[in-house]
Amino acid sequence: MKTRTRNLLAVLTITLLFTACASEKQLEEIIQQSEEEETTNWEESTHPEEPVVALPGLPDDVAGYTHWLKLNAEPIPPVAGGDPHNGTKNVYVNQTRDTIAPNGTQQFPYPDGSIVVKDATRPGKDYIGLIAIMRKTAGTDPDHNDWKFIEYVRNAADAEFSVIAQDRVCWECHAQVEDIDYVFTELE
Ligand code: HEC
Repeated sequence: MKTRTRNLLAVLTITLLFTACASEKQLEEIIQQSEEEETTNWEESTHPEEPVVALPGLPDDVAGYTHWLKLNAEPIPPVAGGDPHNGTKNVYVNQTRDTIAPNGTQQFPYPDGSIVVKDATRPGKDYIGLIAIMRKTAGTDPDHNDWKFIEYVRNAADAEFSVIAQDRVCWECHAQVEDIDYVFTELE
């Protein structure tokens, strides 16, 4: 009788241990899974998709322009002795390389609907202080290849941009490069 009880107890203990082990393993798996999920969530929350909003004061159609095709390979430095768009500049266009340079060489004119955005960081500053935009809309200005020119400025990192000049003041210089559709910066 005593032996049978002992045997029974032993079997019970082994069964219990086994169950405990099994469930512990399961628990480990669950923990691991939730840790993996947590890691994914953590990554998602710390790298959220960049919101595509225009800088304050700028029209919505240039929201996210820094993700467009950049024409210049290196930032364009300020021009010594007077820079029409003073600062360190980058120029973007809402077209693909294949569209504007189908055989590797840039073709002109730009297609209807093209938007060229230039931003400039003023010398000594660390925020974009100037945005110049050229928008091509068929029929709006046939004398200037249907480009509409407009320029915005601001004087603080958190300030809104406001319009400083458009069209007429821009034509004289940009007409110098009429042969390449009024856009000085060529695709590099
Ligand atoms: C005094 C000459 C001059 C005037 C005036 C001028 N620009 Fe420019 N612009 C340039 C030059 C030169 C470049 C290219 C080199 C650079 O960015 O420094 C340029 C570049 C640009 C670019 C980038 C595309 C490109 O052509 O390379 C835009 C957009 C632009 N200008 C818009 C404007 C607008 C809008 C106005 C009027 C409010 C204007 N510009 C007036 C000389 C001028």
